[in-house]
Amino acid sequence: MNLREFQAEWMPRFDAYLYSELRAAVPEQENLHKAMAYSLMGGGKRIRPLLVLATLALAGREISDGFAAAAALEYIHTYSLIHDDLPAMDDDDYRRGRLTSHKVFGESTAILAGDALLTAAFEILAETPTLSADKKIRLIALLAKAAGPDGMIAGQMDDVEGEEKRLTIEELKQVHDKKTGALIRFSVTAGCLIAEADGSFAREMEQFSRHLGLAYQIHNDLKDVVLDEAQTGKTTHHDADLNKNTYPSLLGVAGAIQELNTVIGQAEGCLERLAARIDDAENKIDVFREILDYVRI
Ligand code: IPE
Ligand code: IPE
Ligand code: MG
Ligand code: MG
Repeated sequence: MNLREFQAEWMPRFDAYLYSELRAAVPEQENLHKAMAYSLMGGGKRIRPLLVLATLALAGREISDGFAAAAALEYIHTYSLIHDDLPAMDDDDYRRGRLTSHKVFGESTAILAGDALLTAAFEILAETPTLSADKKIRLIALLAKAAGPDGMIAGQMDDVEGEEKRLTIEELKQVHDKKTGALIRFSVTAGCLIAEADGSFAREMEQFSRHLGLAYQIHNDLKDVVLDEAQTGKTTHHDADLNKNTYPSLLGVAGAIQELNTVIGQAEGCLERLAARIDDAENKIDVFREILDYVRI
């Protein structure tokens, strides 16, 4: 099955689940619901949920068992973008070709919509009837770790503090690993946990996701430099205005592309090793190969 077929089969079902969880949590007519829905159903690529579901498919398990973890993850990703765009953070007016949450709803509602998505994520996981209590507790702990002060938030803090100084490439890699990598890694570790995948499969998948997470942020930062607003849906050249440390700012565009290609090659290596050891893996691995195509430039 290729990526397009996998997405066509699973993402509409996942989106319906995601929206039903939102409606259950917040009545539809409220401003809070509108702000949460605006960002949650606002054209995100759903890469992280896709990774959860594709990991379950690769492990040969029931794909819909991943819906709750994938939804919780997308809620947290969405909250992180709402807060990331706030005037006190990156001060962005556009995302996904539309005005950012605070531009539409005002800063207080945007902050609260983010807070609501963050807390509701854990409610979704805690209350899902499809997973055992043991798995739910482990997923909740893993997600809290990935999103919190040891993970994404630490990366965001480093990113903001980095505006005042120039990092080394090794330091920047660590920032990306937390800021973006932690949630991407959670996608596959959650999939492996739910699928009860064996240790060597889980380790190789974790390694793959580590490379993918770094590639994802390098690609994101390259797009800010080499693409225009119509292509990214965001204000471009904004990282330079904010004095952000990025691969392009430290290595130049050519150097950043070279590093990106190296990291993609490392991720491909993980997929080749997985393909060699899983029976009937070829077409399921193709979904991951095509996800890697997304970060090529
Ligand atoms: C953007 O993530 C921010 C990063 C962590 C690089 P995505 O590019 O996955 O965002 P959406 O949800 O698809 O807009
Ligand atoms: C966003 O990183 C990462 C998180 C929200 C955790 P960036 O600030 O680099 O991403 P964009 O460019 O706003 O999408
Ligand atoms: Mg940022
Ligand atoms: Mg930003």
